[in-house]
Amino acid sequence: MSTQLSSRMKNISASATTALFARVDDMKRSGIDVISLNVGEPDFPTPENIKAAGIKAIEDDFTKYTNARGIAPLREAILKKVKEDNGAEYTMDEVTVTTGAKQSLSAAIMAVVGDGDEVIIPIPCYVSYPDIVKLAGGTPVFVKRNEDFSLDLEAIADAVTSNTKAIIICSPDNPTGAVYSEESLRKLADFAMKNDIFIVSDEIYEKIIFSGNKHFSLSSIPEIKDRVILVNGFSKTYSMTGWRLGYLCARKDVISTAVKVQSQTTTTPPSISQIAAVEALTGPQDSVSEMVAEFEKRKDFVVKGLNEIPGVKCHDIQGAFYAFFDLRSYIGATTEDGKVIENDSMLCEYLLEKSHVAIMPGSAYFAPGYARISFASSMDVLKKALERIKLGLNALKC
Ligand SMILES: Cc1ncc(COP(=O)(O)O)c(C=O)c1O
Repeated sequence: MSTQLSSRMKNISASATTALFARVDDMKRSGIDVISLNVGEPDFPTPENIKAAGIKAIEDDFTKYTNARGIAPLREAILKKVKEDNGAEYTMDEVTVTTGAKQSLSAAIMAVVGDGDEVIIPIPCYVSYPDIVKLAGGTPVFVKRNEDFSLDLEAIADAVTSNTKAIIICSPDNPTGAVYSEESLRKLADFAMKNDIFIVSDEIYEKIIFSGNKHFSLSSIPEIKDRVILVNGFSKTYSMTGWRLGYLCARKDVISTAVKVQSQTTTTPPSISQIAAVEALTGPQDSVSEMVAEFEKRKDFVVKGLNEIPGVKCHDIQGAFYAFFDLRSYIGATTEDGKVIENDSMLCEYLLEKSHVAIMPGSAYFAPGYARISFASSMDVLKKALERIKLGLNALKC
């Protein structure tokens, strides 16, 4: 007998974004005026028609457990959406509704990854992918992306072993804002077929995409439909992070196995949110285009503003609402009180303490020397934040 904690959990980290969120919350509650550019959620309210549908669900007493896979009208609406938007044909037993896209990811990974399996993850990557793989008993295998954050298909090919089970990709991408081209995704699809591996395709930022860029869904390629696991959700497109709702489309046996995980962990996705999500998919979509237009203005402002700071380099952003920028020229700099900034975590800590701006260090995404800011804040807040970052960086001796 032993009261020691689980050995598997020893290798699991708490989400770095969630940890910084809690820290900033504490600072704000102690009266410090911190600007939070660390948060990965739209600053817009959930659209009125979606809120009204949720309120009606409560008034109608639709407040109980549902089918673990989600209510039929929602699954039907999802199938219609993926057919119309992504050109992908799925049936009712090839879709499940989850408690957030994060549960889609974890249920899917648990369904296909077991002890000793390897999962290729192109880096920089979303903070949770590696730990979700480890939770399932698998091993994350990191593969660098190209300088412009496109997929390095040769490096991916070099990383394959007989234990490779899957690759996880995200487009539009958190944290870099890259959108993978149809050509590179088709090559990845051929590669997955040749090597007999799954592709987990996280498309949660699908609708947040800027002029001149096009989203291509791997689920639209019929030849690889049996190995693509499509992850999507309502958090970002409809500003519904707190409603906790996502979905998964995949082969029937992958879905029924993922549903086992759901049924033994969260039982069902939230009933009220499911009614609201039917409205999100079937109701007017104007709020989505208005939000994306606003994000695009902010993106232009932030990219320009960051590139005007000496020593900072930010590439153009194709989608999502993050700027991922290069701060490597400040590593090794000295603060006014003589402290050496040894890495990006120290630099972000310095900007938090000195300039009261919370930004995520690139190493949280396996990209040391970089940092990520979310531009899900008003233009006024972004202006103030960029000034603070500039002042903070200028005060360093390089
Ligand atoms: C790339 C990516 N995938 C999945 C998620 C999880 O989203 P959800 O709120 O639906 O769980 C996030 C949230 O930040 C994300 O950035």
